[in-house]
Amino acid sequence: MSHSPVSDLVLRDPAVAEARHAIDQDPTRPAKGYAAAMDRIRIRGGHRLDGTIPIGGAKNAALTLMPAALLTDQPLTLTNVPRLADIDSMIALLSQLGVGVNANLDVAAPDRRLTLHARAVACATAPYDIVRKMRASVLVLGPLLARHGHARVSQPGGCAIGTRPVDLHLKAMEALGATITLEGGYIEARAPSGGLKGADIVFPTVTVGGTENALMAAVLADGETLIENAAREPEITDLATCLNAMGARIEGLGTNTLRVRGVPRLHAATHAIVADRIETGTYAVAAAITRGRLHLQGTRRGLFEAVIDHLQEAGVAIASTETGVLVDARDHELRGVDVMTKPYPGFPTDMQAQWMALMSTASGAAMITESIFENRFMHVPELARMGADINIHGGSAIVRGRRRLSGAQVMATDLRASVCLVLAGLAAEGETIVNRVYHLDRGYETVEARLAACGAEINRLRG
Ligand code: EPZ
Repeated sequence: MSHSPVSDLVLRDPAVAEARHAIDQDPTRPAKGYAAAMDRIRIRGGHRLDGTIPIGGAKNAALTLMPAALLTDQPLTLTNVPRLADIDSMIALLSQLGVGVNANLDVAAPDRRLTLHARAVACATAPYDIVRKMRASVLVLGPLLARHGHARVSQPGGCAIGTRPVDLHLKAMEALGATITLEGGYIEARAPSGGLKGADIVFPTVTVGGTENALMAAVLADGETLIENAAREPEITDLATCLNAMGARIEGLGTNTLRVRGVPRLHAATHAIVADRIETGTYAVAAAITRGRLHLQGTRRGLFEAVIDHLQEAGVAIASTETGVLVDARDHELRGVDVMTKPYPGFPTDMQAQWMALMSTASGAAMITESIFENRFMHVPELARMGADINIHGGSAIVRGRRRLSGAQVMATDLRASVCLVLAGLAAEGETIVNRVYHLDRGYETVEARLAACGAEINRLRG
């Protein structure tokens, strides 16, 4: 009997054909074609993790610190830069705007640094094909308006987790004197001829990106700006710290009221990116879900207290060390603990999927309420394929923990859902294959290598 080449067999496999079709429909799929898009991660679960995981710089801090380079004609150097697909996308966007980039981001490089030098803004357009892949591109709006007086940014569409409008960003820019028009799917923003003017900005709901755009626009505005109901995420504080190092005058860091006194220009600075609190929380859950122990290096408990509180309530031991945080769940029977996602310092929405994976293996029930995004339960049907017992009621999910999940083929739908499925695979009996892991590569650096180094049986299957 003649055997078709594997490729034909693979192509005829309905699951692969379905995956290819789904990828064609996914605007965020990587540009480098199917190969990366078809990468999968295979896990054989049941191994307790034990070891050390280095925590990198925060993705969501880097994605706002990088556009801040547009605010000055002097170089901004960032260190502790994570090696992620989203960072590459932001580099591509800033390069298109005319920013000089000098990057030493080799995975092995001990000191990952990125120098961005916007001597002049050559172009003020953030194009559709970049913005559709990475919503954080909208964070060039404030800096371009402040420095250049004009910005043309493709309107970010919705994404898997929600419609995610940017109306509050635009209202903040208008409060500072900008005129905003929407045409052809683009946001056209123009500052008055004399530049932006300080103003009082009150956000009706807490918005991380809105606060970041408002802050970056206000630092060069003429006069004083008060930003009330500002987001307090550590990434905002990190941005304000960096802007102050560049010569800005921002007060109220870490509070929900930021006072900005505009200055005529900013100067060069070097800034170390804050540790990634979501990466920290994710690996803390990896220790807990495998009933193992991990030392998370290069981070600190103050960045993720709400997650620590819930882990301790569930029965996990957490301790600060000289260089990080030790998470120990060895021989611990974990209990179900309810959680409701909230803006910082509440429990982060970016940890909700990971928490659901953990609760799927704890004893007892847990209610998980997602209050930030309207569609952030897409990991539920995938976890159910692994035997998790989860019922959704509107914005809440009731999870009834099972001692053992079972491995299965599952599909990643967004960044945090994909890592949730990897975590579940670590705890499941048998083999789990996570498809469409390009989502994972957007926010987690060499995740399979880090987990394998701590005892996980995990590897990547190339596309
Ligand atoms: C940031 O997104 C993060 N992304 C998200 O992380 C994170 O989930 C989110 O903050 C909440 O913490 C980056 O920092 C790059 P928001 P952002 O503006 O700024 C609504 C990840 O996995 N809203 O705080 O877009 C919005 O729809 C990503 O790393 C408006 O209605 O979030 C949402 O319901 C996912 N109008 C809520 O506010 C606006 O103008 C919070 O959104 C802006 C937001």
